[in-house]
This record gives sequence, C-alpha cells and structure tokens, in this order.
Amino acid sequence: MPARINPSILAADFARMAEELARIANADLVHVDVMDNHFVPNLTFGPQMVERIAATSPVPLDVHLMIDDPARWAPGYAALGAFSVTFHVEAAENAGNDVVGVARSLRAAGSRAGLAIKPGTPIEPYLDLLPEFDQILVMTVEPGFGGQSFMAEVMPKVTTVRDALAGTELDVWIQVDGGVTRDTIAVAAEAGADTFVAGSAVFRAPDPAIEIDALREIARSHSH
Ligand code: DX5
Ligand code: ZN
Repeated sequence: MPARINPSILAADFARMAEELARIANADLVHVDVMDNHFVPNLTFGPQMVERIAATSPVPLDVHLMIDDPARWAPGYAALGAFSVTFHVEAAENAGNDVVGVARSLRAAGSRAGLAIKPGTPIEPYLDLLPEFDQILVMTVEPGFGGQSFMAEVMPKVTTVRDALAGTELDVWIQVDGGVTRDTIAVAAEAGADTFVAGSAVFRAPDPAIEIDALREIARSHSH
C-alpha cells in the first residue's frame, strides 16, 4: 500500500509561503486548510490565496475545506486547479447540501472528491457513498488548529473504511489529519490509512524534507 505524506501549510510561515513550499518539494501533495471562522473557530485563507499557492507550489494541492455550505464554495476550489478537494459531511448536512451532488460537482470540475468526518462523527452512514468519493478523511483531532494530540480512538473508523474497500475496485484513499508524528503514524498505517497529513511535525523539524521521508518510511513499513 502506498504511503503519501501531505504536509499541512497551516504550520508554515504564511509570510514566506513560497520558501516554505520549496522546502516540502518531496511531499506527495500539499495540504491546504481552508477555515472560515464559522465551521471551525479559526480563520485561514480563501480562494485568492489558494490560487496563488497552486501557482507557486511544485506539488499539487490537497485542499481541506473546514467551511460552512460546501456546495456553495467547494467547486470553486476544484476549478482553481486543486488536485483534491475535501469537504466536511457535518457542514454539508447543516447547510442542507446534497452530499453526493457536492462530490459530483468536484469531479466535474476536474478534482478528486474527498469526504471528511470529525472525530465524533460515525462513518457507517456514509459507507454506501464510497463510489462517489476519491478520499475519506478521518480527522484525528477536532478540526480548527494545528499542534493538537492524535486521537488513536478514531482508528476503528479507519479500519471500517479499509474493510469496506477490500474486494472492491474503488480507488479511495484513506487520509488521517491531526497530530500525525513519527510516534503516531505507525498506528494510523496499521489501521489502514494510506495518506497522512502532518503540519507541526514537518514544519517544526530542522529539515522538513528529511522529516517527510522519515514519516513516509515509517508509514510504509507499518502498512499492510
Ligand atoms: C486541523 C487541520 C490540520 C492541521 C494538522 O484542523 O485540518 O490539517 O494543520 O496540524 P498538526 O499536524 O500540527 O496536527
Ligand atoms: Zn487539514
């Protein structure tokens, strides 16, 4: 199984973004956390910044939308050229969005479609939707901030998705996000994750590129 490492630029120096992007050129994708101060109590950036990051980054973007009403905003991020756009099912349901309709609009705009769930949200109600998605993001912290501790108690959800995919032809990636470090990544890989977001672990390391390779190697050696 592959082990993709997607550094989160939430932990980067926003005033030196081009340099920060260059330091993670060996990443699989660049994880971009879009927060609106409504769905989560934090604010990052919107489409204009994401467009410039897409134009500057040597690596394609994995956009994680922590925003209300994804049906209204998500297709615009796909149209900016993001490789992948992931939205929260809780936000979609609160806004009365058609979850499958949002996924289809992302694919129609040329992006992979991702569904994210918060630590307290069960995955079972959404397993039937797997064919509509290219990625399931199982949050391993409450979304909103970097630097929190990894919640190993959500690993059974990762394994539930992995088991649901077994024996199918679906190419759905299983992503974990939050508190991923050299100490926690093995547990996530063993549970069945194949795509790992790491913010603080990468950007607080002396050499982010070396940290990416180290994380990838640990994940690979613990994946099935
Ligand atoms: C949290 C974000 C994460 C965050 C991860 O809401 O979705 O992507 O940047 O940061 P670390 O790796 O520091 O937990
Ligand atoms: Zn994220």
